[in-house]
Amino acid sequence: MASSKTPRHGVIAHPRRAGALLAEGALVAFPTETVYGLGADATNGEAVARIYEAKGRPSFNPLIVHVPDLAAAEPLAVFDPLAHRLAEAFWPGPLTLVLPLREGHGLSGLVTAGLPTVALRVPALDLAQAVLAAAGRPIAAPSANPSGRISPTRAEHVLEGLGDRVDAVLDGGACAVGLESTILRTDPPTLLRAGGVPVEEIEEITGPLARDTTPGKVSAPGQMTSHYAPVVPVRLDVTGPDEDAVLLGFGPVSGDLTLSASGDLREAAANLFDHLHRADALARRSGKSRIDVAPVPEMGLGWAINDRLKRAAAPRG
Ligand code: TXA
Ligand code: MG
Repeated sequence: MASSKTPRHGVIAHPRRAGALLAEGALVAFPTETVYGLGADATNGEAVARIYEAKGRPSFNPLIVHVPDLAAAEPLAVFDPLAHRLAEAFWPGPLTLVLPLREGHGLSGLVTAGLPTVALRVPALDLAQAVLAAAGRPIAAPSANPSGRISPTRAEHVLEGLGDRVDAVLDGGACAVGLESTILRTDPPTLLRAGGVPVEEIEEITGPLARDTTPGKVSAPGQMTSHYAPVVPVRLDVTGPDEDAVLLGFGPVSGDLTLSASGDLREAAANLFDHLHRADALARRSGKSRIDVAPVPEMGLGWAINDRLKRAAAPRG
């Protein structure tokens, strides 16, 4: 996937350089275990404003703040006992907690879009940890895609979508999880977005969660119906080939591209956005008018995969 869009400081390999650029107020895309993030210093309002500008994102949509560990998170937000237990169980990892802002937090008001809460996450990937250590400050980072488009799981995806709008891209190869983090509020315990930590694992600690993830309902304000959208339309629950469409297979349904031939949901999650990017390019190249997707079971990571697929297939607003 060659791209003519080149960031000002190019594609870089060293997390310390990424961290130093972030500390200077630059916009730097970097990998996490979930997806690539479009990072900026969360305490620098101008740097954060550039995130919204680059993504073309509605400014009422708040951003996730990334910190290296629980100790760095505590000065920013008030942790209730359940939030503490969840942080201890799942950090570092693909869980984001939405918590009340603590007084004196120092974050730009643009990060939270003026809400009294902040979304906090501790990424597990070594490269992301090294970036945060080098930056030495909380880093706001939404997924590094233009607003409403497919999330990036490779540096090439970032270059394709935002290459001329970021200052640098740290290349860490493909993301292992491939789905964004699970987002939770703890008071009362509510799932705001299904994601990289399966809901069932969280419910072992929280008990049954309320769900506030209806497509179209703006509960996590970024959860708009048409999201993660490829350029060509998407149709779900298709069990066989059709000459007008590129088929994305799963399990027994084998397609032009297959999320996981063995029906492994973890493998399917890791492949999801990359395969959507590729299916989109393939459809446009071969004059097909649609992407068809095989059924994926509603269990474990299947909840998050289906959530993203439903948004990709939703009517465009
Ligand atoms: O895995 C991830 O979470 C990736 C990587 C880069 O960390 N980030 C990511 O960020 O997916 P983004 O901005 O694409 O999604 C953030 C979601 C949005 O739906 C946003 O509305 C929600 O988090 N959010 C952020 N702050 C919130 C808050 N205070 N209350 C409710 N929802 C919030
Ligand atoms: Mg996103």
